[in-house]
Amino acid sequence: MAERVFIFDTTLRDGEQAPGASMNIEEKLIVARQLEKLGVDIMEAGFPAASEGDYESVRRISEEIEFCRVAGLSRTRREDIEKTLKALEPAKNPLIHIFIATSDIHLEYKLKMTREQVLKAAGEAIRFAKKYLDLIEFSCEDASRSDPKYLVQVIQEAVQAGASVINIPDTVGYALPFEFENLVKYLRENTPGIEKAVLSVHCHDDLGLAVANSLAGIRAGARQVECTINGIGERAGNASLEEIVMALHTRKDLLGFDTKINTEQIYPASRLLRKITGYPIPPNKAIVGANAFSHEAGIHQDGVLKHRLTYEIMTPQKVGIPQNRLVMGKHSGRHAFRGRLQELGFELSDEELDQAFKKFKELADKKKEVFDEDLETVVMDEIIKIPRKYRLKYININSGTEVMPTASVQMEIDGVLLRDAEFGDGPVDAAFKTITKLTGAKCKLLLYSVNAITGGTDAQGEVRCRIEENGLEVSGFGAHTDIIVASALSYIDALNHLEFKKQNRSGLKGEEA
Ligand code: KIV
Ligand code: ZN
Repeated sequence: MAERVFIFDTTLRDGEQAPGASMNIEEKLIVARQLEKLGVDIMEAGFPAASEGDYESVRRISEEIEFCRVAGLSRTRREDIEKTLKALEPAKNPLIHIFIATSDIHLEYKLKMTREQVLKAAGEAIRFAKKYLDLIEFSCEDASRSDPKYLVQVIQEAVQAGASVINIPDTVGYALPFEFENLVKYLRENTPGIEKAVLSVHCHDDLGLAVANSLAGIRAGARQVECTINGIGERAGNASLEEIVMALHTRKDLLGFDTKINTEQIYPASRLLRKITGYPIPPNKAIVGANAFSHEAGIHQDGVLKHRLTYEIMTPQKVGIPQNRLVMGKHSGRHAFRGRLQELGFELSDEELDQAFKKFKELADKKKEVFDEDLETVVMDEIIKIPRKYRLKYININSGTEVMPTASVQMEIDGVLLRDAEFGDGPVDAAFKTITKLTGAKCKLLLYSVNAITGGTDAQGEVRCRIEENGLEVSGFGAHTDIIVASALSYIDALNHLEFKKQNRSGLKGEEA
C-alpha cells in the first residue's frame, strides 16, 4: 500500500500574510469549513499572539472544526505559547506550532541572539508547551540558509524536548530542489532521535520552486507538506496545495504516495478563496487556472477528441471543475438554486439562502442567463459578514463625449446619510473622488481591474481594487451589470476591509513576527 503524506494547510495563516489577502473571522470560518471538506489533515488557523483578530479566529475555528487537526502558530516566548494554547482550548485535535529562526543572518540581525540562546529558547518553549499539549510541531525558520550542523543540534534538542513534528522551511524560497533534498536527507541521517518525529517541509515560491522543493523534501523522507490553496502567501507565495496534491496523485506511479485529499473539492476551494480574498488566479495557473484544461491549438483539439490522454494527464472532473455549465434564469427555483450552490462548494443557512435567492431573482430579471460565476458573486455578500461602516445608497453618473464626467453619490456612513458630487477625468475617477471626499479616505489606489464575469453585453462587470494606507493593504470587490456601480462598490468594499484591518492590526513589532 502507498505511504501517506500529510497535508498541512496554512492558507489561513501564511497564506493570509499575502498583501491584500487578509480575511475576517467569518471569511476564515468559511474557508476552514471548505478545508475540512477538502480533507486536509491539519489546518493552521492563525497566529494568536499576532492580533486579537487572529486569536479570535483560531478560537472560533477550534470550536467549529470537527475532524481535521487545528494548529496555531507561536513564537518561543511564554506569553505567545499561553495565548496560543488558550486559543486552541476548544479544538478537538489541537497542535501548537512553535518556531524560531536558525540562520545566522536571522540570529544576528533579527533576533539578536546567539546560537546557544536560540537552542535554549527552542528547548524551553517546547518543554513548557508539552506540559499542556502533547502534539507539538517545531519549525527552524530559514532552515535552508542555516548551517546544517547547527540545524542538527536544534532539531535534536527539539525532539528531546518533545516535538513530534519537525518542520524544515525554505522561508525565503532560496533552495534548489536537489539542494533541498540533500538537506532533508542529511538531517534525517545525522540527527539522533529524528526518527521519533514526522518530518515536514514548508517552501516558499520566490524562485518558482516551492512545489518542486516540497516534492524533493518528500523524496528525502518528509511525510508532511505545508502548502496553501492557490499558492497564496508572503511575497511570491507558498507551495500550492493543488499542485502538490495533483502531482502526488498523477505521478503516484513514480512517487508512490497517497494523500487523504478529496481532489474533487480542489476547484471549489480555489474559487471560494479567490472570491473571498480577491486574489486573482492567473489563467495559466496549473490545476485551477481558467486555461488549465482548455486546448487551443487545432492539433491538440484533434488529438483530445480522438483520445483525451493524448494531451490530458488528468481530468478536470478529478479536481472538481463542473462539467455541465448549468445556466440558470428567472424561472429557476429555490431548490435548483440551492443545489447548484452546493455543487459550487457553498453551504448556506436558510436565512442566507433566502437573501441570496432574492438577489439572484433580481439579477435574473436584469440578465437572461445567470452563470456559476454570477451565482458565486450573489452568495458572497450573504456569507461574508464584514462590519460595514460604509454603504452605497445611490450613485448617478453623467458622462459622455460632450460633458465633464460628474458623479453624485449618496452614502450611509456609520448610519448617517451623506451626499456629495465631484468631477473627474472619467466616470470611475469622478465616482472614486466623490467617495474619497465623503469618507475622508487617505488611501492610495494600487490596483484597479475590470472583468466581465461571463460573456455577453449584459454580463456583470467584476471590479477589483487594491488600496493601501500606512502599510496596510486590502482588496475590494464589486459586481454589477453597470461597471461604474461595480467600481464604486469595489472601492467601498476595500474601504470597509481597511477599517476592519485597522481595528485588528497586528500587535507584533519587529523581531520574528
Ligand atoms: O516560512 C516560514 O519559515 C514560516 C514558519 C513560521 C514556518 O512560515
Ligand atoms: Zn512560511
